[in-house]
Amino acid sequence: MSSLHTLPRSGASYEEVTRQVDELVDGMTPEQSGKLSSTAFWGIGDALQIAKETHAKFFSWNALFTFQEGSAAKIENDVLDICIDLVGGDEQSRGNLTSGGTESNFCALHAMRNWAREHRPDINVPEIVAPYSIHSTVHKMAKVLDIKVVTVPQLADLSADVAGMQAVIGPNTIGIATSAPSWPYGCVDPIETLGHIAIENDLWLHVDACVGAYIAPFFRELGEEIPAFDLSVPGVRSISGDLHKYGYAPKPLSTIIWRSQAEQAYHYIPVTEWPCGLYLSQGFVGSRPLAPIAAVWALMHHLGHEGYVANAKKLLDIRNAIIDKVEAIDGLTTWPTHGPLLQIAGEDLDIQLVVGAMEQHGWRLLGVLDPPAIHLTIDVLSESSLEKFLADLETSVADIRAGKIDTEGLLTYGGVAAEETAPKWLLSAVEIMGVDH
Ligand SMILES: Cc1ncc(COP(=O)(O)O)c(C=O)c1O
Repeated sequence: MSSLHTLPRSGASYEEVTRQVDELVDGMTPEQSGKLSSTAFWGIGDALQIAKETHAKFFSWNALFTFQEGSAAKIENDVLDICIDLVGGDEQSRGNLTSGGTESNFCALHAMRNWAREHRPDINVPEIVAPYSIHSTVHKMAKVLDIKVVTVPQLADLSADVAGMQAVIGPNTIGIATSAPSWPYGCVDPIETLGHIAIENDLWLHVDACVGAYIAPFFRELGEEIPAFDLSVPGVRSISGDLHKYGYAPKPLSTIIWRSQAEQAYHYIPVTEWPCGLYLSQGFVGSRPLAPIAAVWALMHHLGHEGYVANAKKLLDIRNAIIDKVEAIDGLTTWPTHGPLLQIAGEDLDIQLVVGAMEQHGWRLLGVLDPPAIHLTIDVLSESSLEKFLADLETSVADIRAGKIDTEGLLTYGGVAAEETAPKWLLSAVEIMGVDH
């Protein structure tokens, strides 16, 4: 007998399927338990409603066809104009909407490689230089594009080693990839210095600001010191910024912003070699949902600049409350970061045990392995959840000291939490790759 789940011969009633769907929803991590990791960015307070309603209204449209739809084109134009403005661009700047940070980074590296093919035809195996902290998706996309990534170890304080990066620029280097902030360590790289280096060496500087692009302007307004990283920095040619992170768009939605049309010129992949004439899509993917773009349009116009600042203030208060508490717990410390990511490391404690203990209290957490730390994406937790999180952290440490915890937690992204509940693709993937999970 096949173990495949097959299409039921006849459908169940609306009520029955709704009951089953609700059961599936109940099986998901409660929103607040993963709000500092996997369930972050679910919308902002009352504005969530307008985003959900707008999403439902645009449920059936395909954004591949914005060339036929004036309303859809207006929605995309407005959202991209706002994004360009937020990352320090002007009328000369250009932007494209994509499905996420992965696609935005792909578009940047793809354009960079095409640019290099024209400007540096002597290079056969193009290379980019990046700090070790660069996001995995830059490596993934470089593999797709046959670009070699030369990574440079972080300095002792976990910041990017600019001198080290400069030292490995060689005859095959076409660009520099850098982060604002980096996912693992939460800091913005010294992008002004890297901008000078890029200009001096005629290299393409790409900033992966998937996390920072749409929160940094509001944090700065609240007095946070965030190093310059956007189009105000000479030498930066492209920036990826995720709307589905701190822009609070429903997934999937990100942006790739180009300094000017001169950079965007290397982005498009027009196809005419088929029976239907010109095929031109905005990014790498074809069909994509219009609903998230419309939802963020509604959110942006409902919240306005002041609404995003007010949300940023809540994030800062939560981040600072966590820092204060963690620093007061003997054995734990936080890393200094720029913005909304926060890492909690153990001083004389195994932080993986802390994750294990926190899981027993119902918290879903992500981590960094090198060096080990809990990795928080700060989002708006309810007051009671924040109190519970902080109290559970204190109890977890006390329980570890009392020898009551022996289960380590800290999954990597390809980690299998439990074979019985794991997706088949993942089990198959780990089998194919022979990796130990
Ligand atoms: C800095 C950075 N770049 C790229 C990505 C990839 O984004 P996505 O998962 O939307 O493809 C992430 C995701 O967390 C990120 O933090």
